[in-house]
Amino acid sequence: MGRIKGDRGFIAGLSLDSGKIAMIAGKRGSGNIEILALESVPGGGIRQGKVINMEKALESIAQAREALEKRLDVSIDKAIVGITGEHIAGVSSKGFVGVDNPGLEIKKEDVEKALELARAISVPTGREVIYVHPNSFTVDEQKGIKEPVGMIGVRLEAQAYIVTAQSTVLRNIEKTLKLAGIKPLNLVFQPIAASLAVLGEDEMIQGTGVIDIGKETTSVALWYEGELIHTAVIPIGGDHITSDIAIGLRISKSHAETIKIREGVASSKLVKSDEQVKIEDRRSKKSYLLEKKILAAIIEPRVEEILEFAHKEIMRSGLADRLAGGIFLVGGTSNMPGIVEVAEEIFNLPVSPGRPWGFIYEGKPVEDPSLASCLGLLRMAQLFPDEAGLDEGGSLAGIGGFLKKVWIFIKENF
Ligand SMILES: Nc1ncnc2c1ncn2[C@@H]1O[C@H](COP(=O)(O)OP(=O)(O)O)[C@@H](O)[C@H]1O
Ligand SMILES: [Mg+2]
Repeated sequence: MGRIKGDRGFIAGLSLDSGKIAMIAGKRGSGNIEILALESVPGGGIRQGKVINMEKALESIAQAREALEKRLDVSIDKAIVGITGEHIAGVSSKGFVGVDNPGLEIKKEDVEKALELARAISVPTGREVIYVHPNSFTVDEQKGIKEPVGMIGVRLEAQAYIVTAQSTVLRNIEKTLKLAGIKPLNLVFQPIAASLAVLGEDEMIQGTGVIDIGKETTSVALWYEGELIHTAVIPIGGDHITSDIAIGLRISKSHAETIKIREGVASSKLVKSDEQVKIEDRRSKKSYLLEKKILAAIIEPRVEEILEFAHKEIMRSGLADRLAGGIFLVGGTSNMPGIVEVAEEIFNLPVSPGRPWGFIYEGKPVEDPSLASCLGLLRMAQLFPDEAGLDEGGSLAGIGGFLKKVWIFIKENF
């Protein structure tokens, strides 16, 4: 890939997560999204999706951004920002308008109005709407319409999934972004982005779930008939497995992390009886051999716990019997051998490793499951250039009217 000096034909995505802050820049390729630059900075002052150390977060964002800018030879001051955390919640909503245009032809403005009305849910104090996911439209009696513009009807109803978040958490994210000099084009709830990176339209129609098991959070997004039905964030992830290993074996957390990644498996059933793992004892500074089965026995209950919480969300969604497309696991922790099998047992559904599709970087596909939520930010721009998440209420300080132009910018630059 050559340099694209002065060329602004790209969109940047910034994902703020506990394990890493990741930033990417990409443009629409032929059928694929071409990633122009990608930088992932571990441990950036985010805990449970919230900024807890602004200085560190700023440093990490600056590091990621500088790497991208160097590569692209342009300055980056805008990005679609992916956020997550237990403070974020979603709810389905409807809004309808009467069509009174000549010839009863539905216009873009009618669609926007219907979505805006769907967005006008009553939000508890201290929370605000950050994102509106357009699910489908009903024109008169005809349900399940994806693109109503140009159709004829007297009544247009929008079905949308409305995402709200805690205001104070948002203010801290905003402040961090402002200090970092990044204008958020939009705030996207990460499980939605992760879904868009790994699922195809057919799977969303069939009924599918994406479970993203990260460092400190596990997020769930469930789809049926092409619509987003349920999302949730569970406040545990891979780091809890690491902590249990550290406590159980009385070793440092960093050593536990290394051992987990190198030798950890999700189920003791997967370990042959004689396999052993080398452990460095912190106090004696000597190493000893531990049965791998014991390591697996520490990991297994934590993996099960994470997956059981996720299962509760599947049950809560009412879709348990309808997820014919099964569940896809993404996030760093989905790399653990055996986790797919354990998940199948707990969910009683087909489970597969989720692989981002249609992203090319330096001529090769990017399929890293821990990048799903970050990559998905760019697919978002590709799929929903017009309406997704248009925050016309301007809840993000300083970008109010700007947002109206955001998706136009995305359209022109992507
Ligand atoms: N091969 C592996 N086996 C088990 N866990 C892994 C593996 N690779 C990464 N992880 C875990 O994944 C987590 C990070 O996942 P990631 O999706 O990058 O986090 P986040 O999105 O929360 O920033 C860490 O807890 C890390 O230990
Ligand atoms: Mg993540």
